[in-house]
Amino acid sequence: MKVTRSLAIGVGHYLPERVVENAEFTRWLDTSDEWIRTRTGIERRHFAAEGEKTSDLAIRASEMALADAGISGNDLDAIVLSTATPDRTFPATAVRVQEAIGMRRGFAFDLQAVCAGFVFALGTADAMIRAGSARRVLVIGAETFSRILDFNDRATCVLFGDGAGALILEAAEGSGESSDRGILATDLNSDGRLANLLYVDGGPSSTGTAGVVRMQGQEVFKHAVLKLAETGGRALAAAGLEADDVDWLVPHQANLRIMKMTASKLGIPPERVVTTVEDHGNTSAASIPLALSVAASEGRFRRGDLLLMEGIGGGLAWGAVALRW
Ligand code: UT7
Repeated sequence: MKVTRSLAIGVGHYLPERVVENAEFTRWLDTSDEWIRTRTGIERRHFAAEGEKTSDLAIRASEMALADAGISGNDLDAIVLSTATPDRTFPATAVRVQEAIGMRRGFAFDLQAVCAGFVFALGTADAMIRAGSARRVLVIGAETFSRILDFNDRATCVLFGDGAGALILEAAEGSGESSDRGILATDLNSDGRLANLLYVDGGPSSTGTAGVVRMQGQEVFKHAVLKLAETGGRALAAAGLEADDVDWLVPHQANLRIMKMTASKLGIPPERVVTTVEDHGNTSAASIPLALSVAASEGRFRRGDLLLMEGIGGGLAWGAVALRW
C-alpha cells in the first residue's frame, strides 16, 4: 500500500562558542567536577554569549541543514521550531528564522514541550506532511537554557547548556513497510499531574518574568527511565519493529545514567547509543537534533539505518520517533 513518508534530507547544528567546564561552577558553588561527571556524565556545556539569542543559534543550525539538503529557504513549506526559551514571548522565534533564511512563503511557528520538544515537533511535522499540508518542513530544536537557570541552585544549574539542531523532512512515497526510509512511527505522551516535578517558576501571565528552572531531580529520573523505555518500545511496535532492529538510539541527552538504563531496558547495547551529553550538557529541545547532527557529520549513520529518538521533560511530556535514515 502506497503511503507518504517524511524523509530526512538534511541535518545541521550549532553550538555557541563559549565552553564552560564543570570546574568553573566550583568557583561559587559547593560542587565538584567529579560529582557532576559521575552523576550525570556531563563534562562541559556551551553557553550563549551576551546578546546571543535562541534564534541566532537556530538560524546557524538551519543554514547547515539547508546546505546539507542542497536546498534554499524558499524551498521550504513550513518551519516548526521547538523551544522553551524563545527570543520573545511573541512573535514565534520561528518567524525570525523564516526571515533570516530567506523563506518568503509558507508558515513558521513555535511549539513547546521542553525537553520532549523535538520529538513533538517531528510528530507534528510528520502529521502535516502525511496530511498533505506541507511537503518540506524544517524542524528545529533550539535553546538558550542558560537564561532560565538559578546559578545558586547546584542541583539544576550544572545540568543545562545552550545549542540548536535542525532536521529537514520531505514528503516521499513509501510502500507502507517497515523497510521504508523516513519516519515510520511516532509516540507522544504527556501527564499534567506531574507538572510540579519540573517547571519554571515564572511566565508572562503569572509572574510577568521569565522565571528559573525548578526540578525534583530524583523523581524525574525515575519517571524518565520507565517512560522512555515504554515510549521507545511503543514506537518500535507501531512500526512493526523490535529493539534488535535499532541501529542507533538517539536519546534526549540529560543524564548518561538515564540513557544507559533506558537502553538496557529496551535491550539496545551501549555501543549503539549516541551520546553527546559529555560535551553539550542537557540542551532541552536541542539535545536530540544536536546529537543527530553531530553523529551524522561524523559519518556514523548509513542510509537505511534505523534510528530511535526519544525524549522526556517538563509536563511531564515524553515521546519517541522511529526513523529510517
Ligand atoms: O531534561 C529533562 C529531564 N531531566 C532529567 O532527566 C534529570 C533527571 N534527574 C537527574 O539527572 C538526577 O536526579 C540529578 C543529576 C539531577 C541528580 O542526581 P541524583 O543522583 O539523583 O542526586 P540527588 O538529587 O539524589 O542528590 C544527591 C546529593 C544530595 O545531597 P545529600 O542530600 O545526599 O546530602 C544533593 O544535595 O547530591 C547533592 N547535589 C550535589 N552535590 C554536588 C545535588 N547537586 C549537586 C551538585 N554538586 N551539583
